[in-house]
Amino acid sequence: MKLIAKGAEAEIYLVEYWDCKAIMKVRMPKPYRHPKIDLYIREERTRNEARTMLRALEGGVSVPKLYDADFSNMKIIMEFIEGKPLYEVLKKEYLREAGSLLAMLHNVNVAHWDYTTANILVKDNKLYIIDFGLARYTEDDMEKAIDIHLMIRSFLSVHPGKDEWVRAFWEGYSKYGDANKMRELVKQIELMGRYVRERRKTVW
Ligand SMILES: Nc1ncnc2c1ncn2[C@@H]1O[C@H](COP(=O)(O)OP(=O)(O)O)[C@@H](O)[C@H]1O
Ligand SMILES: [Mg+2]
Repeated sequence: MKLIAKGAEAEIYLVEYWDCKAIMKVRMPKPYRHPKIDLYIREERTRNEARTMLRALEGGVSVPKLYDADFSNMKIIMEFIEGKPLYEVLKKEYLREAGSLLAMLHNVNVAHWDYTTANILVKDNKLYIIDFGLARYTEDDMEKAIDIHLMIRSFLSVHPGKDEWVRAFWEGYSKYGDANKMRELVKQIELMGRYVRERRKTVW
């Protein structure tokens, strides 16, 4: 068992599962939380992650296969994607694919809530969405639009002015989703952000 990543809430281990390389994601206790609440949150997020990953798999979205889940030990075991995070290999074609995958995920009514270039892995030119801990079942288009907004922010913050990448992402989205409707909602989110920033300026 080898620790390969340690995030804010989970440890990721490379393990063997029935002779296959696999990833074990374990949510560790947080000492600053009340123990009962801590258990509740970790179990909820682990269940949520397993549930939404399964839903994504059923919808044909490219995510690691779920091998096993243990909700008493806050563990999930899944397929090991031996690749790189999207931000390391970013290009237009991948962003188009990231748009298509997101539309497919939205079609099975899952909003990811942390859809950034760090939470997509690329292996042999194929993209896989990971990190479903905050993902939710929802029919609300506004929650889905937040995923789009976050992804566009996540690559534009590192590559400002890459409008053609934004266009490619939307093109990908339009393959399986209603890009025109979502574009209006993303505009609304951006206006809200600006409104808050303006208000902050006047207050401080
Ligand atoms: N199925 C997987 N295959 C390969 N690497 C993975 C897999 N799942 C997670 N990782 C690695 O572990 C890191 C953290 O996992 P993630 O699920 O994003 O948890 P966190 O909530 O800590 O961000 C990822 O950025 C990736 O490098
Ligand atoms: Mg992550």
